[in-house]
Amino acid sequence: MTPSPPAPPFVLPPDPADRQTADGWRQWRLHRHDFVPAPRLTRSEFTELSRREQALYELHREATHSNFPLQETPMSRAVAELMRARLRRGALKQNPTTRRGLIINGGGCQGKTETACEVAAAFEDSWLALHHQLHPGAIPGTRDLHLPVAYVQTPVTAKPKSTCKAVLDFYGVDHKRMDLPALIRAVRRHVHAHGTRVILLDDITRLKLHRLDDQDVFDLIKGFMDMSATLILIGVDVPASGLLRDAVRDPRTGDWVLPAPPAGTPASEGAETQHQRRFTQVHLGPFGYTSAAEVTAFTEHLMGVEDHLRLFDAAPGMLTCGDMPAYLHERTGGVVGLLECLIEDGAEAAIDSGEEQLTVELLDQIAISVEGLPNRDAAAGEIPLLPPRHPAPTVRPPVRNTVLDDRTSAVTLPG
Ligand SMILES: Nc1ncnc2c1ncn2[C@@H]1O[C@H](COP(=O)(O)OP(=O)(O)OP(=O)(O)O)[C@@H](O)[C@H]1O
Ligand SMILES: [Mg+2]
Repeated sequence: MTPSPPAPPFVLPPDPADRQTADGWRQWRLHRHDFVPAPRLTRSEFTELSRREQALYELHREATHSNFPLQETPMSRAVAELMRARLRRGALKQNPTTRRGLIINGGGCQGKTETACEVAAAFEDSWLALHHQLHPGAIPGTRDLHLPVAYVQTPVTAKPKSTCKAVLDFYGVDHKRMDLPALIRAVRRHVHAHGTRVILLDDITRLKLHRLDDQDVFDLIKGFMDMSATLILIGVDVPASGLLRDAVRDPRTGDWVLPAPPAGTPASEGAETQHQRRFTQVHLGPFGYTSAAEVTAFTEHLMGVEDHLRLFDAAPGMLTCGDMPAYLHERTGGVVGLLECLIEDGAEAAIDSGEEQLTVELLDQIAISVEGLPNRDAAAGEIPLLPPRHPAPTVRPPVRNTVLDDRTSAVTLPG
């Protein structure tokens, strides 16, 4: 008798790190690629396991189906390349002039956050390696830890002050009783002290523009741009949010250019730089499904998803052959986050029902549930609209409006 396969190793994933604090960001950055998917077992290999091993394997494949890897897509590649180049150039700049900012724009659940965080984390890995893990000017053991990246999620119903406070929270700084200029100055001090080269302001379109706050928002953006760090703004439809309302589009480069501060503005409010404050905007869209290249790109993405699934009766090409790619595109509109939701729920249903494979019939029973997505603000457009579902064709003919029909020439057909 052949010996049963060794018990597959499985370590429960750690609690999700809170990337909005320096410590949590560091934990996430260091362990972001640690998850090891369940081994691929056949049904007979599974049945050979002991009951305990089977229970562990079930847990491991459930965890596998909840931890799909980030895959490079043509859309994320374009964003990542631009962001990577911008971060490197901004970080290597020595003079304290304004760095050109980047706006990552796109609909909800299209991978803006994960793409930007991955690029920022990879930048930090290499920047820290370059600096021997320490800010050269810092004294070990003090608060002046080297933090090349500050990741901040704009609070729901944010105001400029609460946005600044969220940045200070990243650094673990007390920010009681400060007005906006004092808060911006405090952020500037910490950005400088920690050697921060990149500030990611995620979900920036939560910052609602009310008339009274307009100037404050403008001051905030200007203040952040002048901190010798590259500012990355991430949001759903940034141009429509009004954030850049006073900016003009440079017809040559497509960049958004903020107006210069009025003459006589004190240096603390951002007049120390003669450089223009510019943002390049990059869009992260969904997969298309019109050209051959788009179909290929989506199918390749599905191949990666399929490779990660652990279903006993999954035939090769389960997600990439026949009508499946077109069906999945129609269901999800090519939005990576919606595809992930549908496949995750589908895999669960396939295991529960014992079907152990994904079919159009099984997926058709599943409604994509966007309501439960964590950290999404519907008011800021972060919950994507689901593509309308086409009901199965019925025999009922369409109802026609007959009010304007000419009845004089109507012919009665024999019944
Ligand atoms: N390139 C990718 N490959 C695989 N999965 C991805 C990819 N990009 C994003 N995802 C998954 O899609 C989901 C949504 O991604 P993310 O949170 O980055 O979207 P978002 O555009 O920031 O959405 P929102 O506007 O709602 O904040 C995540 O669960 C993520 O794991
Ligand atoms: Mg996001």
